[in-house]
Amino acid sequence: MNILLTGGAGYIGSHAAVALASAGHQIVVFDNFCNSRPTVVDQIRALTGQPIPVVEADLRDTAVLLGALTTHGIGAVVHFAGLKAVGESVAKPIEYYANNVQGTISLLQAMQAKGLKTLVFSSSATVYGDPQYLPIDEAHPTAATNPYGRTKLHIEEMLADVARADPQWRIARLRYFNPVGAHESGLIGEDPNGIPNNLMPYIARVAAGQLPHLNVFGNDYDTPDGTGVRDYIHVVDLAQGHVAAVRYLLEHAPGLYTFNLGTGQGYSVLEMVRAFEAVAGRPLPFTIAPRRPGDIASCFAKVDLAASALGWRATLGLKEMCESTWRFQQRAAGL
Ligand code: NAD
Ligand code: UFG
Repeated sequence: MNILLTGGAGYIGSHAAVALASAGHQIVVFDNFCNSRPTVVDQIRALTGQPIPVVEADLRDTAVLLGALTTHGIGAVVHFAGLKAVGESVAKPIEYYANNVQGTISLLQAMQAKGLKTLVFSSSATVYGDPQYLPIDEAHPTAATNPYGRTKLHIEEMLADVARADPQWRIARLRYFNPVGAHESGLIGEDPNGIPNNLMPYIARVAAGQLPHLNVFGNDYDTPDGTGVRDYIHVVDLAQGHVAAVRYLLEHAPGLYTFNLGTGQGYSVLEMVRAFEAVAGRPLPFTIAPRRPGDIASCFAKVDLAASALGWRATLGLKEMCESTWRFQQRAAGL
């Protein structure tokens, strides 16, 4: 199957490109490189041994999308492209709605015009809002607490309407928990611009000596050690989840499907710090800082549905998450 990956040069898209290519698919990357670099595609080529065509364009350019779907004989789309920084979305909501929602409308229009109706969408556990119970299953009520989350919810709802209007669509909405880690080669990984917002890249930069210390946002949550608990999932496991989702869509009746992609296991901030220290073999300085506005105490997934329907489960643990992050970080920092 020829598969178009919107945002295929990004953190998760690049790992999914490698996994999908290794599963025998032909991959085409569609990306405007607003949050990634063209050199990532060279790394994907090196890892897969495939030529990997690239279309450099904005998702909102429907004409270019239409051309790409035709030229490359695309049979399915995996849609990663989007802006994802929660804080930035509060400051720049119009940019977020334009990029994420308008971009998805453009993609759906192009797919509809081509009669192409197989789509995997990158959603997020953020659509569950403040958890009402744990672990969170797919039936948990949805609610968004910031503009980024609302773009994800809008898109999820649009996809539900599309599937209702035309029962021939095959759509998987994948709700990722907290993706971390890197490919074992150290060639691709998460390399955010500026100061990282997320825990794992921040820890990695502290370990590399690029940032002085970690701020632990709150130690008075109702969790075993008082720090926030999240369901960290290795990005290579997550990538395999996309291979399973594509296979599922192709083998099952058309319709709308929703899956959590997590491990089902929560770790606290301090547990993450300790695990990284053990792998890097050096202490990680941290200070306890005030809670970050909008943060919740705990969030972890119920993963039974993906296991039973997709036959997929995360297999890599915290050690592999930290080791691969550290390998990538050392390479990126030239250590
Ligand atoms: P990323 O920023 O690394 O990758 C996104 C890619 O999309 C980038 O390469 C960027 O250049 C591209 N892009 C953005 N807007 C575009 C546009 N209008 N046209 C063309 N290309 C565009 O992010 P990621 O971490 O790989 O996330 C991928 C998807 O998964 C996003 O939709 C994100 O919201 C979702 N997600 C991520 C996380 C996470 O923690 N990383 C968690 C849940 C969901
Ligand atoms: N944290 C710190 N210090 C930091 C960064 C984070 O203590 O410098 C803590 C947070 O308070 C939280 C935990 O580490 O307890 C994880 O924070 P992240 O920012 O890494 O991840 P979040 O769970 O807040 O959010 C991420 C994505 C969201 C997505 C969500 C669920 O940023 O977009 O996972 O998928 F919606």
